Amino acid sequence: MAINWFPGHMHKARKEIKKIMPEVDLVIEVLDARIPFSSENPLVPALRGSTPAIKILNKSDLADPAVTQRWMRHLERTPGVTAVALTQKHPGEVSGLLNLIPELLKHRNLEKRTVRVLILGIPNVGKSTLINTLAGRAIAKTGNEPAITKMLQRIQLPNNIVLLDTPGFLWPKLSPEECGYRLATTGAIKDTVIEFDEVAMFAIDFLRAAYPEALVNRYQLQEPLPTSAVEIMDAIGARRGCLRRGGGADLHKVAEILLNELRSGALGRISLETPEMIAQMTHANSPEPE
Ligand code: G4P
Repeated sequence: MAINWFPGHMHKARKEIKKIMPEVDLVIEVLDARIPFSSENPLVPALRGSTPAIKILNKSDLADPAVTQRWMRHLERTPGVTAVALTQKHPGEVSGLLNLIPELLKHRNLEKRTVRVLILGIPNVGKSTLINTLAGRAIAKTGNEPAITKMLQRIQLPNNIVLLDTPGFLWPKLSPEECGYRLATTGAIKDTVIEFDEVAMFAIDFLRAAYPEALVNRYQLQEPLPTSAVEIMDAIGARRGCLRRGGGADLHKVAEILLNELRSGALGRISLETPEMIAQMTHANSPEPE
């Protein structure tokens, strides 16, 4: 999978975060609950250092609740980290963060001054939606694209909290390759960047192993499911009438249907990675001891 982020953007984001970090009391890192590992920017842990953090597992309405619980326990093993599962569909729960922040900082005796909170997240995790809910109004997006604010934003929130939003582009984890496919499956990476059909096949292979009932129920497929992703796509195509003139399923159309439905939650609440999968992957990629 050939994706190159612009080194200039990466450098800028790192510089901005490094510059602002000494004034920050707490970091809010927004992650996608379906892929908490892949949706984390690889630089954040080092840049954050020992600053307390709230890791938000956002879009939890789309993720498997049991897996989200496991992620929360896993993330909270890191000192100073509090994990919170949220969905922007319940703005009341989101506003609960405004009470959690002073609660987490109360031992630091900051009552008399403004608390500065830096919010970080890769594109499409729902950072802007979250900022708008917390602020109670629409705030201009920050970023590197045209027509987007290129300045650090300081957004005044209730409870004497100022939210700092940096304009630098935070890229996700694209290595190992599975991370890129998971990001593409959720729609966090644009469909033009990776071959659409390949992403759908990756998603089907994953669903077949981890959530076969989601495929069976949504597309009324026969059990046991075929072993190859293409055969499953053929079966979905037959169900949905996506057939090519010469016979056989229109795989591109099936890929589009499957990914759209998976992303919208129509196949149920699905998490694409678990802490155990990541531990296994990290272990497999680490060099053998001599
Ligand atoms: P960003 O600033 O991190 O780039 O993300 P943004 O808030 O723009 O959100 C990206 C997409 O994710 C939006 O959908 C938004 O509605 C959706 N989203 C944000 N939070 C949640 C959540 O908790 N659950 C679900 N299911 N979706 C969420 P969009 O289709 O790009 O835009 P829109 O049509 O909703 O405006």
